[in-house]
Amino acid sequence: MMPQAHIIGTGSAVPERILTNKDLESIVDTSDEWIIRRTGIKERRISSKEKDESTTDLATKASLKAMEMAGISSENLDMIVVGTVTSDRQFPSTACMVQQDLKAENAIAFDVSAGCTGFLYALTIANNAIRCGTCENALVIGVERLSSVVNWRDRNTCVLLADGAGAVVVTSKKDRGGILSSRLKSDGTLWELLYSSYGNSYIPEVLQGIDLKPLHLEMDGNRLFKKAIEYMSTITQRVMQDTSLSSEEIQLVIPHQANIRIIQGLAKSLKVPMEKVYTNIHKYGNTSSATIPIALDEANREGLVKKGENVLLVSFGSGLTWGASILNWSF
Ligand code: ACO
Repeated sequence: MMPQAHIIGTGSAVPERILTNKDLESIVDTSDEWIIRRTGIKERRISSKEKDESTTDLATKASLKAMEMAGISSENLDMIVVGTVTSDRQFPSTACMVQQDLKAENAIAFDVSAGCTGFLYALTIANNAIRCGTCENALVIGVERLSSVVNWRDRNTCVLLADGAGAVVVTSKKDRGGILSSRLKSDGTLWELLYSSYGNSYIPEVLQGIDLKPLHLEMDGNRLFKKAIEYMSTITQRVMQDTSLSSEEIQLVIPHQANIRIIQGLAKSLKVPMEKVYTNIHKYGNTSSATIPIALDEANREGLVKKGENVLLVSFGSGLTWGASILNWSF
Protein backbone atom coordinates (compact mmCIF):
# COMPACT_ATOMS: atom_id res chain seq x y z
CA MET A 1 0.00 0.00 0.00
CA MET A 2 1.18 3.52 -0.87
CA PRO A 3 2.14 5.64 2.17
CA GLN A 4 -0.74 7.83 3.33
CA ALA A 5 -0.41 11.35 4.79
CA HIS A 6 -1.94 11.58 8.28
CA ILE A 7 -2.28 14.72 10.40
CA ILE A 8 -0.96 13.83 13.88
CA GLY A 9 -0.78 17.25 15.55
CA THR A 10 -2.37 20.69 15.29
CA GLY A 11 -1.45 24.06 16.75
CA SER A 12 -2.37 27.72 16.44
CA ALA A 13 -1.28 31.14 17.66
CA VAL A 14 -3.07 34.47 17.46
CA PRO A 15 -1.87 37.91 18.59
CA GLU A 16 -2.87 39.08 22.05
CA ARG A 17 -4.32 42.41 20.97
CA ILE A 18 -8.06 42.35 20.21
CA LEU A 19 -9.46 44.97 17.82
CA THR A 20 -13.25 45.15 18.20
CA ASN A 21 -15.80 46.48 15.75
CA LYS A 22 -16.31 49.36 18.19
CA ASP A 23 -12.60 50.20 17.91
CA LEU A 24 -12.98 50.29 14.11
CA GLU A 25 -15.81 52.80 14.40
CA SER A 26 -13.19 55.38 15.40
CA ILE A 27 -10.96 54.55 12.39
CA VAL A 28 -13.44 54.36 9.47
CA ASP A 29 -17.11 55.17 8.81
CA THR A 30 -18.60 51.86 9.92
CA SER A 31 -20.65 50.33 12.74
CA ASP A 32 -20.56 47.25 14.92
CA GLU A 33 -24.07 46.42 13.68
CA TRP A 34 -23.09 46.61 9.95
CA ILE A 35 -19.98 44.48 10.38
CA ILE A 36 -21.77 41.75 12.34
CA ARG A 37 -24.79 41.68 10.01
CA ARG A 38 -22.81 41.70 6.72
CA THR A 39 -19.81 39.55 7.77
CA GLY A 40 -20.34 37.78 11.14
CA ILE A 41 -17.14 39.32 12.53
CA LYS A 42 -17.22 40.75 16.08
CA GLU A 43 -13.50 41.15 16.74
CA ARG A 44 -10.12 40.24 15.30
CA ARG A 45 -6.48 39.98 16.45
CA ILE A 46 -3.79 42.43 15.36
CA SER A 47 -0.10 41.71 15.93
CA SER A 48 2.34 43.96 17.81
CA LYS A 49 6.07 44.15 17.34
CA GLU A 50 6.65 44.53 21.10
CA LYS A 51 4.94 41.21 21.78
CA ASP A 52 7.06 39.24 19.30
CA GLU A 53 4.17 38.60 16.91
CA SER A 54 5.84 38.82 13.51
CA THR A 55 4.72 36.41 10.80
CA THR A 56 7.66 34.16 11.72
CA ASP A 57 6.96 34.41 15.47
CA LEU A 58 3.29 33.44 15.05
CA ALA A 59 4.18 30.59 12.69
CA THR A 60 6.81 29.26 15.09
CA LYS A 61 4.46 29.42 18.09
CA ALA A 62 1.73 27.51 16.21
CA SER A 63 4.29 24.96 14.98
CA LEU A 64 5.66 24.24 18.46
CA LYS A 65 2.13 23.44 19.68
CA ALA A 66 1.47 21.14 16.69
CA MET A 67 4.82 19.38 17.19
CA GLU A 68 4.17 18.93 20.90
CA MET A 69 0.79 17.33 20.16
CA ALA A 70 2.36 15.12 17.49
CA GLY A 71 5.21 14.15 19.82
CA ILE A 72 7.74 14.90 17.11
CA SER A 73 11.05 16.70 17.49
CA SER A 74 12.37 19.22 15.00
CA GLU A 75 15.24 17.07 13.72
CA ASN A 76 12.67 14.58 12.41
CA LEU A 77 11.03 17.12 10.09
CA ASP A 78 11.89 16.65 6.38
CA MET A 79 9.77 19.51 5.06
CA ILE A 80 8.45 22.86 6.27
CA VAL A 81 5.97 24.42 3.87
CA VAL A 82 4.24 27.69 4.65
CA GLY A 83 1.19 29.20 2.97
CA THR A 84 1.47 32.98 3.31
CA VAL A 85 1.22 36.24 1.37
CA THR A 86 2.57 38.37 4.22
CA SER A 87 6.10 37.17 4.91
CA ASP A 88 8.22 39.36 7.17
CA ARG A 89 10.64 39.76 4.30
CA GLN A 90 10.20 39.46 0.55
CA PHE A 91 12.95 36.86 0.86
CA PRO A 92 14.07 34.56 2.37
CA SER A 93 10.88 32.60 2.90
CA THR A 94 8.99 32.50 6.19
CA ALA A 95 9.57 28.73 6.11
CA CYS A 96 13.36 29.25 6.31
CA MET A 97 12.93 31.68 9.22
CA VAL A 98 10.77 29.11 11.03
CA GLN A 99 13.36 26.42 10.25
CA GLN A 100 15.95 28.56 12.03
CA ASP A 101 13.68 29.10 15.05
CA LEU A 102 12.88 25.39 15.33
CA LYS A 103 16.45 24.23 14.57
CA ALA A 104 14.90 21.84 12.04
CA GLU A 105 18.21 21.22 10.33
CA ASN A 106 17.07 18.22 8.27
CA ALA A 107 14.09 19.90 6.62
CA ILE A 108 13.70 21.60 3.28
CA ALA A 109 11.78 24.83 3.75
CA PHE A 110 9.77 26.96 1.33
CA ASP A 111 6.67 29.18 1.05
CA VAL A 112 3.63 28.91 -1.17
CA SER A 113 1.76 32.02 -2.32
CA ALA A 114 -1.85 31.10 -3.06
CA GLY A 115 -3.86 33.76 -1.19
CA CYS A 116 -6.31 32.34 1.31
CA THR A 117 -5.94 28.89 -0.25
CA GLY A 118 -2.25 28.90 0.77
CA PHE A 119 -2.70 26.36 3.56
CA LEU A 120 -4.53 23.87 1.32
CA TYR A 121 -1.88 24.30 -1.40
CA ALA A 122 0.84 23.65 1.20
CA LEU A 123 -1.02 20.64 2.63
CA THR A 124 -1.47 19.16 -0.85
CA ILE A 125 2.24 19.54 -1.64
CA ALA A 126 3.10 17.76 1.62
CA ASN A 127 0.52 15.05 0.89
CA ASN A 128 2.02 14.44 -2.57
CA ALA A 129 5.59 14.31 -1.21
CA ILE A 130 4.54 11.79 1.46
CA ARG A 131 2.65 9.62 -1.02
CA CYS A 132 5.67 9.62 -3.36
CA GLY A 133 7.87 8.50 -0.46
CA THR A 134 10.14 11.58 -0.60
CA CYS A 135 9.03 12.88 2.81
CA GLU A 136 8.22 11.21 6.15
CA ASN A 137 7.25 14.17 8.34
CA ALA A 138 6.09 17.56 7.14
CA LEU A 139 5.21 20.70 9.05
CA VAL A 140 2.49 22.60 7.18
CA ILE A 141 1.72 26.15 8.25
CA GLY A 142 -0.80 28.84 7.28
CA VAL A 143 0.18 32.24 8.63
CA GLU A 144 -0.75 35.82 7.86
CA ARG A 145 -0.20 39.32 9.14
CA LEU A 146 -2.76 41.05 6.91
CA SER A 147 -2.69 44.12 9.18
CA SER A 148 0.60 44.95 7.45
CA VAL A 149 -0.99 45.24 3.97
CA VAL A 150 -4.48 46.48 4.77
CA ASN A 151 -5.46 50.02 3.85
CA TRP A 152 -6.73 51.22 7.24
CA ARG A 153 -8.74 53.97 5.53
CA ASP A 154 -10.76 51.52 3.38
CA ARG A 155 -13.86 50.33 5.25
CA ASN A 156 -14.54 47.75 2.52
CA THR A 157 -11.53 45.69 3.54
CA CYS A 158 -10.04 46.80 6.87
CA VAL A 159 -13.00 45.45 8.85
CA LEU A 160 -12.49 41.96 7.38
CA LEU A 161 -8.79 41.12 7.54
CA ALA A 162 -6.56 40.16 10.48
CA ASP A 163 -3.55 38.22 11.78
CA GLY A 164 -2.90 34.67 13.02
CA ALA A 165 -1.22 31.31 12.40
CA GLY A 166 -2.06 27.64 12.38
CA ALA A 167 0.06 24.55 11.79
CA VAL A 168 -0.25 20.79 11.40
CA VAL A 169 2.26 17.96 11.48
CA VAL A 170 1.66 15.48 8.68
CA THR A 171 3.31 12.07 8.81
CA SER A 172 3.68 9.06 6.53
CA LYS A 173 1.82 5.90 7.64
CA LYS A 174 0.88 2.69 5.93
CA ASP A 175 -2.53 2.77 7.69
CA ARG A 176 -5.65 3.63 5.73
CA GLY A 177 -7.09 7.11 6.24
CA GLY A 178 -5.42 10.48 6.55
CA ILE A 179 -5.76 12.76 3.52
CA LEU A 180 -8.21 10.89 1.27
CA SER A 181 -8.40 13.43 -1.55
CA SER A 182 -7.11 16.90 -2.28
CA ARG A 183 -7.97 19.10 -5.27
CA LEU A 184 -6.68 22.55 -6.19
CA LYS A 185 -7.66 25.08 -8.84
CA SER A 186 -6.68 28.57 -9.93
CA ASP A 187 -7.88 31.15 -12.44
CA GLY A 188 -5.36 33.92 -13.02
CA THR A 189 -7.76 35.88 -15.24
CA LEU A 190 -9.53 36.93 -12.03
CA TRP A 191 -6.47 38.23 -10.14
CA GLU A 192 -7.88 41.77 -10.08
CA LEU A 193 -10.70 40.73 -7.73
CA LEU A 194 -8.22 40.88 -4.84
CA TYR A 195 -4.64 42.07 -4.88
CA SER A 196 -2.01 44.08 -3.07
CA SER A 197 0.28 46.58 -4.77
CA TYR A 198 3.12 45.48 -2.51
CA GLY A 199 5.59 45.40 -5.44
CA ASN A 200 5.16 49.17 -5.87
CA SER A 201 6.60 49.85 -2.45
CA TYR A 202 10.07 49.71 -4.02
CA ILE A 203 10.48 52.74 -6.23
CA PRO A 204 13.44 52.64 -8.63
CA GLU A 205 15.54 55.80 -8.54
CA VAL A 206 14.55 56.76 -12.07
CA LEU A 207 10.87 56.93 -11.01
CA GLN A 208 11.34 58.88 -7.78
CA GLY A 209 9.12 61.95 -7.59
CA ILE A 210 6.48 60.36 -9.82
CA ASP A 211 3.18 59.81 -8.00
CA LEU A 212 2.96 56.03 -7.63
CA LYS A 213 0.19 54.28 -5.72
CA PRO A 214 1.09 53.67 -2.06
CA LEU A 215 0.90 50.21 -0.52
CA HIS A 216 -2.70 49.14 -0.58
CA LEU A 217 -5.09 46.27 -1.03
CA GLU A 218 -7.88 46.29 -3.61
CA MET A 219 -10.92 44.03 -3.49
CA ASP A 220 -14.09 43.55 -5.51
CA GLY A 221 -16.12 42.09 -2.62
CA ASN A 222 -19.39 41.44 -4.46
CA ARG A 223 -17.84 39.45 -7.31
CA LEU A 224 -15.60 37.53 -4.91
CA PHE A 225 -18.61 36.66 -2.78
CA LYS A 226 -20.43 34.94 -5.66
CA LYS A 227 -17.34 33.18 -7.04
CA ALA A 228 -16.43 31.95 -3.55
CA ILE A 229 -19.67 30.01 -3.05
CA GLU A 230 -19.72 28.64 -6.61
CA TYR A 231 -16.06 27.52 -6.70
CA MET A 232 -15.94 26.06 -3.18
CA SER A 233 -19.13 24.16 -3.84
CA THR A 234 -17.89 22.69 -7.17
CA ILE A 235 -14.49 21.61 -5.84
CA THR A 236 -16.12 20.03 -2.77
CA GLN A 237 -18.25 17.92 -5.08
CA ARG A 238 -15.05 16.77 -6.83
CA VAL A 239 -13.40 15.56 -3.61
CA MET A 240 -16.65 13.89 -2.54
CA GLN A 241 -16.72 12.05 -5.88
CA ASP A 242 -13.03 11.07 -5.45
CA THR A 243 -13.77 9.54 -2.06
CA SER A 244 -17.31 8.29 -2.83
CA LEU A 245 -18.44 10.07 0.34
CA SER A 246 -21.84 11.76 0.54
CA SER A 247 -22.41 14.96 2.51
CA GLU A 248 -24.06 12.83 5.26
CA GLU A 249 -20.75 10.96 5.65
CA ILE A 250 -18.79 14.17 6.31
CA GLN A 251 -18.87 14.80 10.05
CA LEU A 252 -17.23 18.23 10.10
CA VAL A 253 -16.76 21.00 7.53
CA ILE A 254 -14.02 23.56 8.10
CA PRO A 255 -14.37 26.28 5.47
CA HIS A 256 -12.21 29.35 4.92
CA GLN A 257 -13.52 32.03 7.29
CA ALA A 258 -14.05 35.05 5.01
CA ASN A 259 -17.69 35.94 5.65
CA ILE A 260 -20.39 34.08 7.60
CA ARG A 261 -22.81 34.63 4.70
CA ILE A 262 -20.39 32.90 2.28
CA ILE A 263 -20.11 29.99 4.74
CA GLN A 264 -23.91 29.76 5.07
CA GLY A 265 -24.30 29.94 1.26
CA LEU A 266 -21.77 27.12 0.85
CA ALA A 267 -23.49 24.96 3.48
CA LYS A 268 -26.83 25.49 1.74
CA SER A 269 -25.40 24.63 -1.65
CA LEU A 270 -23.81 21.43 -0.24
CA LYS A 271 -26.98 20.59 1.75
CA VAL A 272 -24.91 20.40 4.95
CA PRO A 273 -26.56 21.70 8.16
CA MET A 274 -24.72 24.59 9.82
CA GLU A 275 -24.33 22.43 12.98
CA LYS A 276 -21.68 20.47 11.07
CA VAL A 277 -19.82 23.60 9.98
CA TYR A 278 -17.10 24.98 12.24
CA THR A 279 -16.93 28.76 12.45
CA ASN A 280 -14.75 31.09 14.49
CA ILE A 281 -14.92 34.12 12.19
CA HIS A 282 -16.66 36.11 14.97
CA LYS A 283 -13.42 35.95 17.03
CA TYR A 284 -10.69 36.25 14.41
CA GLY A 285 -12.08 37.72 11.16
CA ASN A 286 -10.38 36.65 7.94
CA THR A 287 -6.76 35.59 8.55
CA SER A 288 -6.37 34.32 4.95
CA SER A 289 -4.27 31.15 4.79
CA ALA A 290 -4.39 30.84 8.60
CA THR A 291 -8.18 30.49 8.96
CA ILE A 292 -8.39 26.76 8.22
CA PRO A 293 -5.47 25.55 10.38
CA ILE A 294 -6.58 27.77 13.29
CA ALA A 295 -10.15 26.43 13.03
CA LEU A 296 -8.90 22.85 12.65
CA ASP A 297 -6.75 23.23 15.76
CA GLU A 298 -9.60 24.73 17.80
CA ALA A 299 -12.08 22.07 16.64
CA ASN A 300 -9.52 19.34 17.45
CA ARG A 301 -8.75 20.72 20.92
CA GLU A 302 -12.49 21.12 21.62
CA GLY A 303 -12.91 17.40 20.83
CA LEU A 304 -15.13 18.05 17.81
CA VAL A 305 -13.14 15.73 15.49
CA LYS A 306 -12.90 12.11 16.49
CA LYS A 307 -10.77 9.29 15.18
CA GLY A 308 -12.26 7.77 12.03
CA GLU A 309 -14.44 10.80 11.22
CA ASN A 310 -14.32 12.58 7.87
CA VAL A 311 -13.41 16.26 7.79
CA LEU A 312 -13.80 18.54 4.78
CA LEU A 313 -11.46 21.53 4.40
CA VAL A 314 -12.40 24.01 1.67
CA SER A 315 -11.07 27.42 0.72
CA PHE A 316 -10.82 30.16 -1.91
CA GLY A 317 -8.70 33.26 -2.20
CA SER A 318 -6.74 35.78 -4.16
CA GLY A 319 -5.42 34.51 -7.48
CA LEU A 320 -8.11 33.38 -7.75
CA THR A 321 -7.26 30.10 -6.13
CA TRP A 322 -9.47 27.51 -4.50
CA GLY A 323 -9.19 24.00 -3.15
CA ALA A 324 -10.67 21.25 -0.99
CA SER A 325 -9.38 18.26 0.96
CA ILE A 326 -11.16 15.42 2.72
CA LEU A 327 -9.36 13.90 5.71
CA ASN A 328 -10.17 10.78 7.65
CA TRP A 329 -9.12 11.85 11.15
CA SER A 330 -6.34 9.66 12.51
CA PHE A 331 -6.07 10.31 16.24
N1 ACO B 1 -19.24 49.59 7.12
C1 ACO B 1 -20.36 50.18 6.68
N2 ACO B 1 -20.72 50.19 5.39
C2 ACO B 1 -19.91 49.54 4.53
C3 ACO B 1 -18.74 48.89 4.94
C4 ACO B 1 -18.40 48.94 6.29
N3 ACO B 1 -17.32 48.35 6.80
N4 ACO B 1 -18.15 48.32 3.86
C5 ACO B 1 -18.93 48.60 2.81
N5 ACO B 1 -19.99 49.35 3.20
C6 ACO B 1 -21.08 49.87 2.41
C7 ACO B 1 -20.71 50.01 0.96
O1 ACO B 1 -20.00 51.21 0.73
C8 ACO B 1 -22.07 50.02 0.30
O2 ACO B 1 -22.62 51.32 0.41
P1 ACO B 1 -23.44 51.94 -0.82
O3 ACO B 1 -24.61 51.00 -1.02
O4 ACO B 1 -23.80 53.30 -0.33
O5 ACO B 1 -22.49 51.94 -1.99
C9 ACO B 1 -22.90 49.09 1.19
O6 ACO B 1 -22.18 48.98 2.42
C10 ACO B 1 -23.10 47.71 0.61
O7 ACO B 1 -21.84 47.27 0.12
P2 ACO B 1 -21.70 45.88 -0.53
O8 ACO B 1 -20.29 45.77 -1.02
O9 ACO B 1 -22.81 45.63 -1.50
O10 ACO B 1 -21.92 44.95 0.74
P3 ACO B 1 -21.91 43.41 0.80
O11 ACO B 1 -23.14 42.96 1.45
O12 ACO B 1 -21.52 42.77 -0.50
O13 ACO B 1 -20.73 43.12 1.81
C11 ACO B 1 -18.46 42.38 1.80
C12 ACO B 1 -19.42 43.51 1.50
C13 ACO B 1 -18.56 42.11 3.28
C14 ACO B 1 -17.07 42.82 1.44
C15 ACO B 1 -18.89 41.13 1.02
O14 ACO B 1 -19.07 41.45 -0.35
C16 ACO B 1 -17.87 40.03 1.10
O15 ACO B 1 -17.62 39.48 2.16
N6 ACO B 1 -17.28 39.67 -0.04
C17 ACO B 1 -16.27 38.64 -0.09
C18 ACO B 1 -15.02 39.23 0.41
C19 ACO B 1 -14.00 38.20 0.64
O16 ACO B 1 -14.31 37.07 0.87
N7 ACO B 1 -12.76 38.64 0.58
C20 ACO B 1 -11.67 37.83 0.82
C21 ACO B 1 -11.54 36.72 -0.17
S1 ACO B 1 -9.98 36.04 -0.28
C22 ACO B 1 -9.37 36.20 1.20
O17 ACO B 1 -9.94 35.63 2.09
C23 ACO B 1 -8.21 37.14 1.50
